Amino acid sequence: MTVPFLAELRQVSKIFWVEKPWIGKAKPLYALREVNLQIPKGSTVGLVGESGCGKSTLGKVLLRLTPHSTGSVLFRGEDIGSLSSRQMRGLRRHMQMIFQDPYSSLHPKRTLRQNLQEPFIIHNETDQMQEKIRELMSDVGLDPDLLDGYPHELSGGQCQRICIARAVSLRPDFIVADESVSALDVSIRGQILQLFLELKKKYQLTYLFISHDLAVIETVSDFVAVMYLGQIVEWTSASQLFANPFHPYTQLLLEAIPIPVFRPDRRKRHHSIEAELPDPVRLPPGCPFAARCSKVKPHCLEKVPELRNLGTPETPHYVACHEAS
Ligand SMILES: Nc1ncnc2c1ncn2[C@@H]1O[C@H](COP(=O)(O)OP(=O)(O)OP(=O)(O)O)[C@@H](O)[C@H]1O
Ligand SMILES: [Mg+2]
Repeated sequence: MTVPFLAELRQVSKIFWVEKPWIGKAKPLYALREVNLQIPKGSTVGLVGESGCGKSTLGKVLLRLTPHSTGSVLFRGEDIGSLSSRQMRGLRRHMQMIFQDPYSSLHPKRTLRQNLQEPFIIHNETDQMQEKIRELMSDVGLDPDLLDGYPHELSGGQCQRICIARAVSLRPDFIVADESVSALDVSIRGQILQLFLELKKKYQLTYLFISHDLAVIETVSDFVAVMYLGQIVEWTSASQLFANPFHPYTQLLLEAIPIPVFRPDRRKRHHSIEAELPDPVRLPPGCPFAARCSKVKPHCLEKVPELRNLGTPETPHYVACHEAS
């Protein structure tokens, strides 16, 4: 059987029940609302959207680090929601997550060597472990002489390199990188993004690359999904999204990117996203973006827009906006 997508979400929702004194009894917060997402093997899918829109939840649900509420999560064509925890443990080595803060991802009181040994020991693969660890260090551009030092002796960029080495140590297929360069100095960010690209080639990885920063997303992605309040509102190839964004929200995000001097075509009037993000527990009916949209029409307030393909079957461009054409 051929499996077209390495990972896939089908109509996935994730509900958190939240209790706040001013809303009375627990109310559902849809961190994900009927999300469909397909991640082709060997690609990098960028996931972008502002804080709280559900990016990390989506990444964790894909790896079953957090359970989803409804819908199906597939990995290599298999519904991972139905796997036992033992079966899931076997699958874990093929899917890894890299987080924003490299220091808190490592054990502070253990040497880098001990931190890197951990996955090999957990998965009972200690043959030639020391050689593999030295090779990993050189793969991520670090001197193996650092191995007996501690995480706090490293810079943020070096520390993230160790986290990346640990994530690829058991040769996974799929990596979710959640804001993995956001905490780094701008000058280091480019080098770490470059490392992600090199390792993708070397280990034939597939990435879900989560960032609120469209400039980062543009550097690494083959496809981009734009999220807004738990929903994907636009989905297409990276080239198509950056050349011709359809959703008013994506257009605003793009206009808010600091304009590189080499992209005078982006030199448009700057808009900021006015009006507050609606409370995700008390979403108004209709399009969730309506309150902030400059193109809003009366019918936008009544009906939630579905994702429609405004591209072609070969080069799809999905957008959830009544007004986009
Ligand atoms: N454990 C939890 N309990 C209750 N609500 C949660 C929980 N985790 C996340 N949420 C809520 O779910 C929504 C999505 O959160 P999530 O962390 O996935 O967003 P995000 O896009 O990753 O944000 P950021 O860019 O700040 O990392 C938010 O409204 C958040 O408050
Ligand atoms: Mg997050």
